[in-house]
Amino acid sequence: MVLNVVIMAAGKGTRMRSARAKVLHRLAGRHLLQHVLDAAAGLGPSRTIVVTGHEAAEVERATGAPGLAFVRQEPQLGTGHAVQQAAPLLDDTGTTLILNGDVPLIEAETLQALVSASAGGKLALLTVELADPSGYGRIVRRAAGTGGDEAIEAIVEDKDATPEQRRVAEIYTGVMAAPTHALKRWLAALRNDNAAGEYYLTDVVRLAAAEATPVVGVAAPNETEVLGVNSPAQLADLERRYQRRAAALLMAQGVRLADPARFDLRGDLRCDADVEIDVGCVFEGEVVLGEGVRVGAFCIIRNATIAARATIRPYSHIDGEALGATVGAGAVVGPFARLRGGAELAADVHVGNFVEIKNSTLGRGAKANHLAYLGDASVGEHVNFGAGSITANYDGANKHRTTIGADAHIGSNSVLVAPVVVGAGATIGAGSTITRDAPAGQLTIARTRQASFAGWKRPTKKSR
Ligand code: UD1
Ligand code: CA
Repeated sequence: MVLNVVIMAAGKGTRMRSARAKVLHRLAGRHLLQHVLDAAAGLGPSRTIVVTGHEAAEVERATGAPGLAFVRQEPQLGTGHAVQQAAPLLDDTGTTLILNGDVPLIEAETLQALVSASAGGKLALLTVELADPSGYGRIVRRAAGTGGDEAIEAIVEDKDATPEQRRVAEIYTGVMAAPTHALKRWLAALRNDNAAGEYYLTDVVRLAAAEATPVVGVAAPNETEVLGVNSPAQLADLERRYQRRAAALLMAQGVRLADPARFDLRGDLRCDADVEIDVGCVFEGEVVLGEGVRVGAFCIIRNATIAARATIRPYSHIDGEALGATVGAGAVVGPFARLRGGAELAADVHVGNFVEIKNSTLGRGAKANHLAYLGDASVGEHVNFGAGSITANYDGANKHRTTIGADAHIGSNSVLVAPVVVGAGATIGAGSTITRDAPAGQLTIARTRQASFAGWKRPTKKSR
């Protein structure tokens, strides 16, 4: 079956009080429109059309999906007018699914149920009952006992509704599936003689009913999936609903979250058994936590793989960037550690407070426990990288590598000026600036020898 998807995203979103287009505001790390596109992609549509208008260029730049096309709606004369702009791109055979770009938590299964309900040329509407339906289009059904009992006759917009219609709790969520050929006919017949002076997409229901096309309602499985974002407060509310759902799914798999209300996932998090996550952590991109991993409070972890039994202590920031970062089994990182792209820590590595590691491998059991920087370095097994020591990897134009052999000891406050090799088992005296290779197994010191001066006097203030 041919399925086309139309996503309306041309509106201004005045109540966000933001220069940014509403659909580009972020929820769980992805912008609103991307959530809708991802849900729609679950149905494998043959074509997806996004209707843009307000901040169109920005929206089009920020949005990507296979088989995506954009049409512009200028000016914005209503939701019916929005879909009219997409109509020339729709395949006449098959079904069109219409979605709002500002309803981000809709799920693919719900959309699939709606599309299935439209099979055989029906118009299917996703509906929900709300305790407070004000502002929404109400579902108007034929009165019982008039033949065709309770069939849907129309959607009446809040502004146009009678007091009696306003009491209807069943509302239109803004999602419909329609036979494309008939949809085009209905769109062409829309008029704007209503309270808003707009072309209402919702008027297609009356037109369908008038042609005796069956109109069916599909109840949304819950309210959260169909809530829209119109204001910063609603955006924050949906963010929390998303996070509570993500937290619940993880806990159902056995992950122990200290507090599901203080947990944020902005990407994908995969956890093996017995993972513990303390409060205030943020996970972004692709993160994998192995069996028994413990993450302390207030850590931010992005694009990283943490192996079994590793411990990430509080306030650590691990951002694998594009390269990824890996922490080996049983390793201990933090508190206050920073791992960047290409940090690869083998098993049992210890990285302590105020240590930054970028694009470097640390062999099994290596330690950098205090105030250090390792960039573009290969560090062997059981190396001890002393407090306050750094690799000087950047000469102002190019980056160079530092290689440190197994079991080397780098004394405190040393500078290893790359490119440079420290041999296995070497010891670097504290405070050394190493600019040439240091041989394996030897002590290398590169600083002035300590001297003491007997009889030396401190300067005294001159009297004038
Ligand atoms: C719409 C429905 C209403 C439903 C509600 C659910 C109509 C006439 N009414 O009302 O029945 O209960 O959604 O949330 O459809 N848009 C455009 N171009 C336009 C106007 C809007 O692209 O000219 C886009 C908006 O960016 C938004 C979506 O269409 O993504 C919905 O528009 P909005 O103005 O929010 O419609 P509602 O008044 O909420
Ligand atoms: Ca709306």
